[in-house]
Amino acid sequence: MSDTVIRVENLSKKYVLGHQKEGSSSYKSLGESMSNGAKSLGKKVLKPGIKKDFNPSSQEFWALKDVSFEIKQGDRVGFIGRNGAGKSTLLKVLSRITEPTSGSIRIKGRVASLLEVGTGFHPELTGRENIFLNGAILGMSKVEIQRKFDEIVAFAEIEKFLDTPVKRYSSGMYVRLAFAVAAHLEPDILIVDEVLAVGDAHFQKKCLGKLEDVGKQGRTVLFVSHNLAVLQTLCNRGIFLKQGSVFADDSASEGVSIYLKSLEQSASKNLLQRTDRRGKGQVRLAQVDVSPGEDYSSTILATGRPARFVFHVTSIIPGMSCNFSLYDQHGQPVTNFNSATNSQEDLNIPELGMKLICEIGELLLVPGRYRMNVAITTNGELQDHVEAAAILEVEQGQLRGRPVAIGTGYGSVCIPHRWSLAG
Ligand SMILES: Nc1ncnc2c1ncn2[C@@H]1O[C@H](COP(=O)(O)OP(=O)(O)O)[C@@H](O)[C@H]1O
Ligand SMILES: [Mg+2]
Repeated sequence: MSDTVIRVENLSKKYVLGHQKEGSSSYKSLGESMSNGAKSLGKKVLKPGIKKDFNPSSQEFWALKDVSFEIKQGDRVGFIGRNGAGKSTLLKVLSRITEPTSGSIRIKGRVASLLEVGTGFHPELTGRENIFLNGAILGMSKVEIQRKFDEIVAFAEIEKFLDTPVKRYSSGMYVRLAFAVAAHLEPDILIVDEVLAVGDAHFQKKCLGKLEDVGKQGRTVLFVSHNLAVLQTLCNRGIFLKQGSVFADDSASEGVSIYLKSLEQSASKNLLQRTDRRGKGQVRLAQVDVSPGEDYSSTILATGRPARFVFHVTSIIPGMSCNFSLYDQHGQPVTNFNSATNSQEDLNIPELGMKLICEIGELLLVPGRYRMNVAITTNGELQDHVEAAAILEVEQGQLRGRPVAIGTGYGSVCIPHRWSLAG
């Protein structure tokens, strides 16, 4: 008997663009169509007979193209790829939430999934009822579920709300319960898509610990996360999807490394032409200029020197903020900058135009290459998210007179310091 638990052969999934879509996407998002609509408002009255969502350029779009792979029992597979690569579509197809257009899937065992959009929860039912409902869907007996019940409730930290309909839950509570149910009901295959982005740090840590346990029990885990460091820790295998096709199927660390190289290549591309973005799209990131302080002729930074980042956007909206993170060459997060958290040193310059500027007095990064992901939000709502919007090259430099060496293997950060020595 083979220990293959999932066999996917020539799987393809077609969407017809111009039709109603779920969730955010890299193509024409709801936000974008709304802002386009708003622009033309007053000038144009909708002609009778033309539906609001009519799209003359309606066309087919293949979210998955001829995907084939096999997964063995106990594999912990991380699916890697940019926004819009087809990761969620693949997990939805594997969870039988959406039908493939062609190809075949064979799955052995019980599947529990925790996906971006929706879960197996019924909004009108209470937390308690949903736990039993999900267990029943997974084919568990009432006694079996009962045995797991307390553990699930404790893990989700929702004791007080057990008899409240889940539609009243906050998004955090909802995700906590959904994760607890999926992870504790002993599925043979656990599918988790990007949910860890929702909870707080404490809960994320707990989930990762639980996922590790599930993996150690020899269960199969399919996992998607933007946090590549976590993905590499958790997974032994990485499948890199590029525009709906499998581009690499390797160890998790090799998969991530191939992915990061491909991200670097697109960093040089015109940002507005990139379609691998998420968010409502009323504001978009158009360009990022990286320069060492006032010297705009150079784009190379150096340790201990000033750095200046200019984020050009397509419009300025009240309540807008810019949040960017830096990652090292292994995909490990290094640090984050957020204009939404104010400091007295921040400036308001009405005539600045369509840009936001972040200035650093002294760059505390060791020499190397760093990738920058940028998110633009308006009042907490994601408008645009671009991975690898820029690549930073940091050259060797000095920190308060002390030379800082290249990649010592001790991380990315350097801290100004002083020694006292005898003699
Ligand atoms: N329901 C849908 N209708 C039309 N297009 C969709 C739908 N869901 C996803 N897509 C498109 O399919 C592509 C893959 O999306 P998705 O699987 O969500 O990617 P990922 O999870 O890798 O970011 C995207 O271009 C997205 O816009
Ligand atoms: Mg997704």
